Amino acid sequence: MGKTDGGTNYSIRYFGDPVLRRKAEEVRSIDESLVSLAEGMMEVLVRAKGLGLAAPQVGRSVSLCIVNLPAMDQSQKKPLVIINPKVIGSHGRLVHQEGCLSFPELYAEVARPQKVGISGVDLSGREVELEADELLARCFLHEIDHLNGVLFIDHLSQLKRQLLKSQLRRISQLRGD
Ligand code: CO
Repeated sequence: MGKTDGGTNYSIRYFGDPVLRRKAEEVRSIDESLVSLAEGMMEVLVRAKGLGLAAPQVGRSVSLCIVNLPAMDQSQKKPLVIINPKVIGSHGRLVHQEGCLSFPELYAEVARPQKVGISGVDLSGREVELEADELLARCFLHEIDHLNGVLFIDHLSQLKRQLLKSQLRRISQLRGD
């Protein structure tokens, strides 16, 4: 499906691709193939100017995601890769517009906690723990959802999803890109 195994060319999987509904496997060891996956995802993310990307979105069902901090905050030097991320706490609630690289041109208002604590491991194997709020919190929650097979449209009401039906059908026909 346009993906080159072992290479650095990954293509984005769209809504309708079953890999997006699978729960990603925990990473047990950080090896060369994981590093090259992270690098390939980074390229995809930067090219698409996205705020975040989870491995299932390039067809790999492993627990790794990238949050593209520089796209949000110019003082940040580089995107953050996080392995086996978990939400360790959250509070507040904020409704904000959200999109996803697996749903081209679809945006919807989604309610999420305003502040979260995240734990995980970085690419060098170090345990990381961080706090995020507002847009950054939203980004982490969105990507962690992906690793659980959850998509942002799952947070919408039945009615709202019904209204997006034709757009969702259009996106699911992008399969095979
Ligand atoms: Co997404």
